[in-house]
Amino acid sequence: MRIILSESTAEAVSAVTTILMDKIQAEPSSVIGLATGRTMEPVYADLVKKEANLKKTFFFMLDEYMGLPENHPSSFKQYIKDHLLNPLMLDESQVAFPPVTLSNGGEHYERILTEAGGVDIQLLGIGQNGHIGFNEPGSTKESRTRVVRLTEETRQANQSHFGMEEMPREALSMGISTILSAKSLVMLATGKSKAETIKYLLNHHDDPTCPATFLKSHPHFVLVLDPDAASKINLKI
Ligand code: F6R
Repeated sequence: MRIILSESTAEAVSAVTTILMDKIQAEPSSVIGLATGRTMEPVYADLVKKEANLKKTFFFMLDEYMGLPENHPSSFKQYIKDHLLNPLMLDESQVAFPPVTLSNGGEHYERILTEAGGVDIQLLGIGQNGHIGFNEPGSTKESRTRVVRLTEETRQANQSHFGMEEMPREALSMGISTILSAKSLVMLATGKSKAETIKYLLNHHDDPTCPATFLKSHPHFVLVLDPDAASKINLKI
């Protein structure tokens, strides 16, 4: 695991986009796993600002809410269209979206991931409860893409786009084992609200109460932190 401690949020974001753009410049047809959420918004804005050439790149979305009508404004599909595809004039066909309407959506997604040769770089944020994708506490290291139930904490954290009533209760998410199959992982954490989670992550291993700890066994896991997210780091060495 490699940790990049940045001096500002902008520097942390730039560290992430530099990793991505270096990879894509070397191999334009790379396969990139995309996360959503507030943390990732400046990452996509930076790729747009830097006019990243992603025309030959293929993308897999990490997760999607279940039960939303097609093109719901708060779906992750719409998020990635708004933040990445439309501004960079990329084609929707460059992205695989979790097939939330299929009864065997998880198996189907795993199959197309395998057919694409797997993910080269998986982008990740982290939930305050340590979730990655929507692998909530209690998820196993062996889990693959499947329908997951969101915790009340996650529903609360993500409800601003929906209101609590409308906020979905389930999502289709890559599993932890699926995420670990990516050739490299880049996690970005920013802001004070993630500081305790990052402290916990750095002091625990393979702990199902904080699923992000499973990533620490990955040989190419880069954790990028801004000063606020790193503010409680206290490694028990
Ligand atoms: C997003 C995702 C989630 C978020 C996490 C952090 O596709 O799967 O794991 O990365 O919930 O969200 P923010 O960045 O909004 O704090």
